Amino acid sequence: MTPDLMAAGAQKLAEFQAKSSQDQGSGDREAAYGRLSHGEPDFAHGVALYLEDITVSFDGFRALNKLNLAINVGELRCIIGPNGAGKTTMMDVITGKTRPDAGTASFGSNIDLLRLRENDIAQIGIGRKFQKPTVYEQLSVFENLELALKNDRRARASLFSRLSGEQLDRIGETLQLIHLLPEAQRTAGLLSHGQKQWLEIGMLLMQDPKLLLLDEPVAGMTDEETERTAELFLSLEGKHSLVVVEHDMKFVGELTQGWKKVTVLHEGSVLAEGTLADVQANDKVVEVYLGR
Ligand SMILES: Nc1ncnc2c1ncn2[C@@H]1O[C@H](COP(=O)(O)OP(=O)(O)O)[C@@H](O)[C@H]1O
Ligand SMILES: [Mg+2]
Repeated sequence: MTPDLMAAGAQKLAEFQAKSSQDQGSGDREAAYGRLSHGEPDFAHGVALYLEDITVSFDGFRALNKLNLAINVGELRCIIGPNGAGKTTMMDVITGKTRPDAGTASFGSNIDLLRLRENDIAQIGIGRKFQKPTVYEQLSVFENLELALKNDRRARASLFSRLSGEQLDRIGETLQLIHLLPEAQRTAGLLSHGQKQWLEIGMLLMQDPKLLLLDEPVAGMTDEETERTAELFLSLEGKHSLVVVEHDMKFVGELTQGWKKVTVLHEGSVLAEGTLADVQANDKVVEVYLGR
């Protein structure tokens, strides 16, 4: 290796480690892997995620109140609802960031999410996109995807090894999917807000999650970027289950294509479920959300 490459490698490693330790929250990686002997999620029954009577209280205030939700394998589900309805808290529970006071949460038909730690949950196939894009600004688009691919228990040993042909293909396919192929060598910090959001989604996809949680993914995007994001999500449907929280009703309309189920959250529980047209015509929904 030339000194230049070594310096670049050292920088990558430092950033990689900083990101990994941020992601972890608590506990240590090795210990976390040891706990995965709970087994692989079982999706044979068609259920990707099942929440039952989940309650979360903050100082007596119920952010989630007996929330029930079932997401099928390959389903794209939009969740809407006023600010404070508990949408983000729901994602916090699914990803192990917040522990509920009561209720059950399973991934597939067999994995008890409430017994797993945040890092375990990411490793068994639940990817989460936060509102604000978090990419490595100094690295290129390609390098961001490369790191995401290697930030994985199966490939961890090969952080500095060369990419295999198969891995290169996967990065190429993902670049195409997220519309960033022409920007592959561009420094991520120079991308537009929308492009950074796509890159982060691409990074999640490198880990091949079964379930993707996307919290307000098109906030701050231009109309064109929003449309492309809808196309991207529709192309992921089927291969992954997607739970999309969004306020943009035009976007929700594009995703649900007139027939898919939308869930309306209010005061920590499900207020209504049905097609977008159904819930938009629901008096209770209009009163607490859409009509304001
Ligand atoms: N860590 C926390 N401590 C106290 N209250 C919280 C915390 N997280 C969320 N809340 C409260 O829980 C409610 C639901 O919040 P949130 O899940 O962020 O709603 P949404 O994403 O639907 O806007 C809000 O009233 C919020 O203020
Ligand atoms: Mg929120």
